[in-house]
Amino acid sequence: MSNKVTLQPSGNEFQLKDGDNILDGALEHGVSFPYGCQNGFCGNCKAKVSGDFSYQDDYKPDVLTADEVADGVVICCKAEANSDLVVEVHEVAGADEIEVRTMPVKVSRIEKLADDVMRIFLKQPEEDTLQFLAGQYIEIIMEDESRRAFSIANAPHNDSEIELHIRMVEGGKFTPHVFKDMQEKEILRIEGPLGTFFLREDSDNDIVLVAGGTGFAPIKGMVEHAIELGLENKIFIYWGARDLQDLYLNSLAEEWAEQHENIRYIPVLSDASDEAAWDGRTGYVHEAVSADHPDMFNIDVYMAGPPVMVDSGKREFLLCNISPDNLHSDSFEIAGKSE
Ligand code: FES
Repeated sequence: MSNKVTLQPSGNEFQLKDGDNILDGALEHGVSFPYGCQNGFCGNCKAKVSGDFSYQDDYKPDVLTADEVADGVVICCKAEANSDLVVEVHEVAGADEIEVRTMPVKVSRIEKLADDVMRIFLKQPEEDTLQFLAGQYIEIIMEDESRRAFSIANAPHNDSEIELHIRMVEGGKFTPHVFKDMQEKEILRIEGPLGTFFLREDSDNDIVLVAGGTGFAPIKGMVEHAIELGLENKIFIYWGARDLQDLYLNSLAEEWAEQHENIRYIPVLSDASDEAAWDGRTGYVHEAVSADHPDMFNIDVYMAGPPVMVDSGKREFLLCNISPDNLHSDSFEIAGKSE
C-alpha cells in the first residue's frame, strides 16, 4: 500500500510507501526537501500538511509550538501518511539555501580503486545528516585547522554515507595518510556542503558531463541523481584520462550507458600505453566534446577536473556558442585534488 504525496507549490508528486515518513519518501524520489537531523530534533523539515497522517513512536512533540500544531505544521521526518497528503514546502533550489555545517564523521569503508586512487566512505552521525546537492564538495578539517577539499561522489538520495575519491599526492599533508595509515572507524571532522557545482535538474537541455581523472567523483554523483530522478534529457558522459587504468570506475560508467537509453559514455585517453588494444577515442577530452557537439547553444555542460582541462574546455566551448550561464565547472582547486 502507498499514498500519494503532492508538494505545493511545485506540484511534484511521489508515492509514499507504508512505514516510510514523508521526508524519506521525498529523498528517495530525489526531491530537494529541506532537512537536517532526520531524527525529529532540529525542526528543519517542518511543513504544513493536509490529509491524515500519524507520527512514528519516537516523535518528540516539543519541536513544534502550539501555534504551529494548530496551523497544521508537521515534522516530516517523523510523520507517516494514512491518506493522500498535500505538503506545503519550499523545495531547495540552490546551494545557498542549504546550511553549511561542521560535523564529525566515521570512516566506514576504504577501497583501492587504482594504484593512486582510494575511495573512502564516511558514515554520518545518526542524528545529523548532511544535506547536499549532487556535485557539491566537503572540506576535511585537520588537527591544525588546515583543510582539504573533496567532491562528494554519491547522490543525495543515498546519503547514509559520504563517498570520496582521493588521489595520492606524494608529499601531501592528507592523502599519504589515506593510503598508508587510515583505518576504518577513524573519526574525521568535515564542513559542507560547499560549492555551486551541482546539477540544474529543471533544465530541458541536453547534458554534457566532462570529467578529468578524479573529477569523475562529482560527475558520478550527478549521474546517479539524474537516474534517480528519471531525467529524460540526453546525457553524454566524457571521461578523460591518460591511460585505461586511470578510468578507475570504467565498468560503472559502461553499465549506466547500457541500462539507460538516454545516457552515452565516451572515455577518451590522451596517452594510451597500448594503442593497438584501445579502439576508443584518443586525444584531449575537451576536443572530443567539441568535435561531437560543434553547436552547444542548447547544452548544459558540467566540467570537473584539473585546471588545465577546465580552462581549455571553457575556451573551446565558448567558441561552440555555449551560453556562459550553461557552463558549470569545478576545477581541481576544489574538486578533489587536495594533498
Ligand atoms: S526534525 Fe530534523 S530533519 Fe526532521
